[in-house]
Amino acid sequence: MLVVLLTTTPGMQAMTQHASSARSVATAPTAPTLSNPPVLKNISSKTGTVEVTITAAPARLELVPGKLTDVYAYNGSVPGPTLEAHEGDRVIIHFRNNLPEASTIHCHGVHLPAAMDGSPFGLIPAGGHFDYEFTIKRGTAGTYWYHPHPDVRSEYQVAMGLFGALIVRANDDPIAAIPERLLILSDNRFRPDGAIDFPDSNSVQAEVDEENGREGNVLFVNGHIMPTLSIRSGEVQRWRVINASPSRIYRLAIPGQTLVQVASDDGLLEHPVEMKDILLANSERVELLVRGTGPPSSQTELQTLPYDRYMPQTRPPNWNATHSLVTLRYSDAPPMPPVAVPAVLRVIPALDTMKAAATQVIVMSQGLINGRMMDMNRVDVHATLGTTEIWQLENVVGMDHPFHLHGFQFQVLDRNGVPEKFRSWKDVVNVPKHESVRFIVQYTDFPGKWMFHCHILAHEDHGMMGVLEVQ
Ligand code: C2O
Ligand code: CU
Repeated sequence: MLVVLLTTTPGMQAMTQHASSARSVATAPTAPTLSNPPVLKNISSKTGTVEVTITAAPARLELVPGKLTDVYAYNGSVPGPTLEAHEGDRVIIHFRNNLPEASTIHCHGVHLPAAMDGSPFGLIPAGGHFDYEFTIKRGTAGTYWYHPHPDVRSEYQVAMGLFGALIVRANDDPIAAIPERLLILSDNRFRPDGAIDFPDSNSVQAEVDEENGREGNVLFVNGHIMPTLSIRSGEVQRWRVINASPSRIYRLAIPGQTLVQVASDDGLLEHPVEMKDILLANSERVELLVRGTGPPSSQTELQTLPYDRYMPQTRPPNWNATHSLVTLRYSDAPPMPPVAVPAVLRVIPALDTMKAAATQVIVMSQGLINGRMMDMNRVDVHATLGTTEIWQLENVVGMDHPFHLHGFQFQVLDRNGVPEKFRSWKDVVNVPKHESVRFIVQYTDFPGKWMFHCHILAHEDHGMMGVLEVQ
């Protein structure tokens, strides 16, 4: 098989880049080590079945050092525990809602029956429970996540701590041998007493939050503030990165080196792609190969670079600051020999635009889709099971809207008429201000009602959502 050698260039890397981050973001007094949330225990003894229990309940946790915060947590942790399964597995989630309000578990991006989607059509009342059951389609191994999806309260519940990773593994993963890290990105805002800071409903901050979506000044990776991740010189690591923030868009970079993207939302790309930095809109996922190009005992960091997704009126004053997310610390071990990575990761057959039965035009303005607010009793897009369609997303306002379609994974065709450089399976695509994006989707199976919406959760909650019915 063809291989690409990812070689190191010791010495090319500057030692640290702290000076570059004009930081308004809080940092912990002692840097924690990056660790993963717990993995959900599989209580089934049947092979090919993953059966887990997830309970959502109020809890009191130390999110910022030295303070206790009232949160909502899945099984007592923020982020919630990771659900791990393999392609073809039957997944059973026993969900108990011990919150004082209705909620759901939405397995974001996973192709499953409409009744198991945890959308606002499937609310589980306070004190209620529900068993989600579905089979993971072969060929969909990838990095997903789960979060609540109640009508109007998604941003609040995610901000309160409800989100977790969902990893689907393949038995024939061509890069399975590369050591793996999970990075769940989230942000939050706190009052001096440690309480999560939600603004009063008629304050200026509430208006800004409604426009921008709620952004926090404290940045977390797996619930840690600026944790340390260790790497050996010359080592290659596979990072699964999830943007679980309600609205923040990250532009990921490691100073002085490029990143190798190997997967998008719904699994591996066809070939590794070299990138200077990577834009990750809220709810998007990416898998990267990170190369330890630094010398032993040095350190660098994972940063998020400035990205202007905002309307000028509500753009945060520090929007153009670079923020540090993770310290990357090199062990003192001598450099490892180069690691071989396959040049072909998998084949993604292109959906055929000649077979598209219709083009759905979706116009996104501020808070509206096709000029309307969400109505659960209305169907906005009708489609026929088995057909293929093109969706043409047009953002007509001066702020980005990351667009998410439930149930069906799609392929981006072009952005502003420029063909997409490489093919991938996605379930969310950012549509920058005044730009347009086209994707192609096939409604292979699973009839029913599916949501599509802006994934800035404040926009979704305020009605920037519609219903697709596949019959
Ligand atoms: Cu990540 Cu409709 O959701
Ligand atoms: Cu939006």
